[in-house]
Amino acid sequence: MVKFKSEYTSADVTPKSHWLNRRKLIIGGSGAILVGPYASRALERSQLSPTASPYSTDQEPNSFEDITTYNNFYEFGTKKGDPAKNAHMLTTDPWTVTVDGLCDNPAAYSVDELVAKYPIEERIYRLRCVEAWSMVVPWIGFELNKLIEDSQPASNASFVAFETLVRPEEMVGQRSGFLEWPYREGLRLDEAMNPLTILSVGLYSEVLPNQNGAPIRLVVPWKYGFKSIKSIVRISFTEEMPLTSWWDQNPREYGFYSNVNPNVSHPRWSQASERVIGTGLFAKKVPTQLFNGYGEHVAHLYEGMDLAEYY
Ligand code: MTE
Repeated sequence: MVKFKSEYTSADVTPKSHWLNRRKLIIGGSGAILVGPYASRALERSQLSPTASPYSTDQEPNSFEDITTYNNFYEFGTKKGDPAKNAHMLTTDPWTVTVDGLCDNPAAYSVDELVAKYPIEERIYRLRCVEAWSMVVPWIGFELNKLIEDSQPASNASFVAFETLVRPEEMVGQRSGFLEWPYREGLRLDEAMNPLTILSVGLYSEVLPNQNGAPIRLVVPWKYGFKSIKSIVRISFTEEMPLTSWWDQNPREYGFYSNVNPNVSHPRWSQASERVIGTGLFAKKVPTQLFNGYGEHVAHLYEGMDLAEYY
């Protein structure tokens, strides 16, 4: 169930059984039971034949090594090298993505169903982490708006909430209370519908490595990296702004919007510049761009809003 900022308490614990049987789902008040008709299996490289996208940056991507060894994925530990060491324990087959909440077409999908259904593109995007480093990643994925359209959000659906898997047996970082699990994220519906917002299933012509959020993760290139939630099991349409993990952990430091903005400092450090991963520890930092350089595609979403207030 999606929690909202106002109704969340630390006593809320998602029962494990809720996460273990993803094939039988009771959705919404209608009592409809969806029993997955699909034969879920791990995605294979041969299923990915992406087309190039005009939204790709012409900047040189980071190496596969950089992208897969310098990660944030707290379900596998808090150090940058922990996900590469520990994420192999995650089994990603079978995997079900449940789409529910305020929509006329709730459904449960396997990842290969989604890949077969929607146009797969390579999107080379800049990723700007809130910790003031950045890299360039050649993601493979599809536009989230296609899945949203098929889900037929209700007229009062204003937000989209996302949740990561909870499976402490395989996700060693979930044995600690560093964050409240599941990891949660959210977007306004119009942000989620923007063509830049993708669900990624691969990178560099490979299926998504576990440490990067296998088998399916969000990528929102104009927002700080923590909005790009990994290993998604649930996507829900809501009327209220959903609770998100970092906002819940420290609302003063991490807002709901979290648009990349060099003019709004994090309370503990500046966001005016960034270290580019792969250029060496002593390389000069580069200036950070508003909306991570994607302003021409997204600035209109925030017209009239004070970005210092809605950080
Ligand atoms: N998603 C989950 N479920 N758990 C996480 O800890 N970390 C976020 C985001 N998605 C995170 C997550 C942060 S802080 C960043 S910067 C990006 O993932 C990093 O993505 P990458 O490791 O693929 O570069």
